[in-house]
Amino acid sequence: MDGTATSPAAMERLGQRAAEKSGAGTVIGLIGGLGAGKTHWTKGFVRGIGSAAEVTSPTFSLVHEYIGGRLPVFHFDFYRLDSAAELTGLGWDEYLDQDGIIIAEWADKFPELLPADTVWLKFQVEPDQSRTIRQLPLAPA
Ligand SMILES: Nc1ncnc2c1ncn2[C@@H]1O[C@H](COP(=O)(O)OP(=O)(O)OP(=O)(O)O)[C@@H](O)[C@H]1O
Ligand SMILES: [Mg+2]
Repeated sequence: MDGTATSPAAMERLGQRAAEKSGAGTVIGLIGGLGAGKTHWTKGFVRGIGSAAEVTSPTFSLVHEYIGGRLPVFHFDFYRLDSAAELTGLGWDEYLDQDGIIIAEWADKFPELLPADTVWLKFQVEPDQSRTIRQLPLAPA
């Protein structure tokens, strides 16, 4: 799932390609600072799953659900969450039990809540403003 994107559209293409390799039950944790491209990648991912849904940051609602594709995609953003307990209270475990795909931005805020087989992707803004994605071998501490 590694790659480099020199434009927002290229970042969407990386997400789209990742979707083609992802099956039911996949949990993907996105790590990386503000503006690193996590939401653009997710837009492409949802398109790659075959959904025409519009992808926007789940800022106030915490989770957006995109249907119409090969699998449902549940898009979380932990940025504004204050505690793991808050997420558990919002039904996190029920989302994990569904046979969809979970994508969580800022997932490293609560790594203890993500399953052991989570795919961890680290997004980085390079000095030339391109974005790189690297899959981490281990969950972040
Ligand atoms: N190569 C690139 N890939 C992705 N985004 C890029 C790239 N170059 C510039 N950008 C810009 O960077 C921003 C990335 O925004 P995006 O919402 O995808 O980031 P994010 O990681 O989700 O941020 P946040 O942590 O705020 O949710 C956009 O304004 C986009 O136009
Ligand atoms: Mg975002």
